[in-house]
Amino acid sequence: MARVLVVLACLWACANCKLNVDVDYFTKMLIQEQEEALKYNLPINAHSYNGYNLDPYSLPNGTETYDYIIIGSGSGGSVVTQQLSEIDGIKGLLLEAGSHEDDFVDVPGMAFFAQGTKYNWNYGTVPQKKSCLGLKGKKCMLQRGKGFGGTTLINGLVYSRGSPVDYDNWAAGGNPGWSYKDVLPVFKELENSHINGDPGYHGTKGLMNVEYSKFDSPHLNAFLASNVELGRKEIDYNGREQLGVSKAQLNTLNGRRLTTGKAFISKVNCKNMKLSDNSYVTRILINPKTKTAFGVQYIKDNKFHVALAKREVILSAGTVASPQILMLSGIGPQKHLKEMGIETINDLQVGDNYKDHPCFYGLNILSNVSIPLKPMHGYVEDYLKGDGVLTLPGNNAGVGFFKTNFSKIPQADIEIMLISPNRSDAFFQKGFGFTDSSNKALIEGVDPTKTFTMYIDVLKAKSTGYLRLKSKNPFDYPTVNTKFLEDDDDHDIKTIYYAINLILEMLETKAMKAIDAKLGKVVLPECKDFEYLSKDYWYCTIRYLSDSLYHPVGTCKMGPDPKKGAVVDNKLRVHGIKNLRVADGSVFPDSLAGHPSNPIMMVAAKLVKFLKEDLKLKN
Ligand SMILES: Cc1cc2nc3c(=O)[nH]c(=O)nc-3n(C[C@H](O)[C@H](O)[C@H](O)COP(=O)(O)OP(=O)(O)OC[C@H]3O[C@@H](n4cnc5c(N)ncnc54)[C@H](O)[C@@H]3O)c2cc1C
Ligand SMILES: *[C@@H]1O[C@H](CO)[C@@H](O)[C@H](O)[C@H]1NC(C)=O
Ligand SMILES: *[C@@H]1O[C@H](CO)[C@@H](O)[C@H](O)[C@H]1NC(C)=O
Ligand SMILES: *[C@@H]1O[C@H](CO)[C@@H](O)[C@H](O)[C@H]1NC(C)=O
Ligand SMILES: *[C@@H]1O[C@H](CO)[C@@H](O)[C@H](O)[C@H]1NC(C)=O
Repeated sequence: MARVLVVLACLWACANCKLNVDVDYFTKMLIQEQEEALKYNLPINAHSYNGYNLDPYSLPNGTETYDYIIIGSGSGGSVVTQQLSEIDGIKGLLLEAGSHEDDFVDVPGMAFFAQGTKYNWNYGTVPQKKSCLGLKGKKCMLQRGKGFGGTTLINGLVYSRGSPVDYDNWAAGGNPGWSYKDVLPVFKELENSHINGDPGYHGTKGLMNVEYSKFDSPHLNAFLASNVELGRKEIDYNGREQLGVSKAQLNTLNGRRLTTGKAFISKVNCKNMKLSDNSYVTRILINPKTKTAFGVQYIKDNKFHVALAKREVILSAGTVASPQILMLSGIGPQKHLKEMGIETINDLQVGDNYKDHPCFYGLNILSNVSIPLKPMHGYVEDYLKGDGVLTLPGNNAGVGFFKTNFSKIPQADIEIMLISPNRSDAFFQKGFGFTDSSNKALIEGVDPTKTFTMYIDVLKAKSTGYLRLKSKNPFDYPTVNTKFLEDDDDHDIKTIYYAINLILEMLETKAMKAIDAKLGKVVLPECKDFEYLSKDYWYCTIRYLSDSLYHPVGTCKMGPDPKKGAVVDNKLRVHGIKNLRVADGSVFPDSLAGHPSNPIMMVAAKLVKFLKEDLKLKN
């Protein structure tokens, strides 16, 4: 079993502290936990929280009172919790459905396997029409992390803010205070950067570490050199410009995963903040007459509890659970709530505007350069020195930001991620949810030591999905329809096709020829009748082998006008409701030309500044 790193009465500690040196322990643990992850049955609902089937609509009597109650401790909630705990004399409560991380998920190289553990909610989607067709049941995967750290327990750790234009658009959309000029100082406050990036763009005093992996991938080097050959630049993509290529900037510390649990929750001032784990929130209590949030109902140890909030409730349960909790509490589309048997307190378009990054996973690139396989203890020896393939999250070694020639926006609309060997991980099929026949086509001819891949990420997808309740039972997962690649003018699939051509062009460079890089043949049974490499062949393959990059945002979007779909205002207050704010990925008005985790930390830090303004405290 992996050791669990524990918060003991709010002190961060390790249950069995012989860390750092123990190669044997780590080797055995990694092998055993990988096997466990392969066998583990992922949950399909949250019914385990309510073993006695208590009626969630009967309120218990015992209550505790706090100034602030925070729901969820992922990228957003962890930052809110830690920063609020620093305010003198406040009394706060964090409710998190999961618990503490362990030293298995701490290994970035185990990122895929981490999805096969209790740290994954495994929400999932409805069957798709035009994407995810090569996945079981034609359903996209929807992994979300559970525990202190939330989705940073299982994510790809890439630090990427997106384009300045993203934030300028937020501001231009009626959200003053959110332009890049406004948010850049907040990014810097949070960051402890070791990447030697562009001057003026990075911080070195924050709690969130940013570094490059020490592992030197020859496949990444060929990718970087091939792009330079094609006239592009190697850049700090969180700096002066965003179009170009780079080694990935990572949220790791000496090669280990740095969750927001470890970075922020472990630094909480315990005098002012109670951390409550295994606490599943079922409802926010809102007075329907005054439209004021006054508390939270949650279940812990098979008992319902109520906690009262004198000042505010802060919802940070993420893009999937935050809209779900709002709807269960009477805030959402009136017609839908009525169908579910829930009384509407405020009619808002909660759950609409589900924006994500569709991603194409179907490329194999053969090469003649190998990353030699080692026995596990060899990888562990490197890892404990902060080096080696285990420091790469899911083998992600580098990123590039590009533009299609049909884009009308002044920022990147494609990201290409360079995934170093090896992709024939035992967990690959289970983690991605591929059917047997898709998986067979994908691993055909793969040499685990030499075959690498590039993921293609549509940064500015036109397709928009939605989220709805399955029922009024708070322990049912919500229904999610991503609607990937369903936009009317085929903009999104065209973007992927364009990116495939960019990659084919890269394979023709001297740098790629020097490692004998060639496209591996991936022919799905469903696409075999199309001429190999024709546009029809690619469109077919894309619809089968595309899925989420797991960057859903937007379901409680920020904006001035609830009639235009806004759920929160520019101070993150839920429209029409007092004492209730949201701070997580759900408030993004749109997808970023980057990855959401650190931008969500920025949103959370902004929220604490708003709360301090209201308390008339200096920021
Ligand atoms: C496989 C994968 C790879 C990714 N790679 C990257 C990457 O490389 N870079 C990047 O920037 N982003 C990446 N992301 C996305 C990123 O990690 C998330 O967007 C981000 O962490 C979400 O933050 P959040 O605060 O919105 O929600 P979360 O981090 O999901 O936090 C929500 C928290 O609320 C808790 N919660 C939910 N429901 C309840 C309830 N009813 N009661 C109490 N608590 C509840 C959850 O347990 C969780 O801890 C990846 C995601 C995945 C799944
Ligand atoms: C709460 O207290 C009231 C009055 O004492 C009692 O009638 C009721 O059953 C209690 N409810 C619960 C859930 O314990
Ligand atoms: C864009 O690029 C594609 C593929 O390289 C090419 O066929 C097309 O003509 C270009 N379109 C424009 C508007 O330049
Ligand atoms: C790489 O793949 C091989 C064969 O599929 C597997 O045995 C090995 O454990 C993998 N190595 C790593 C580091 O994932
Ligand atoms: C890989 O192939 C290239 C091109 O044929 C060749 O120049 C290079 O020496 C080869 N490298 C190895 C390690 O075999």
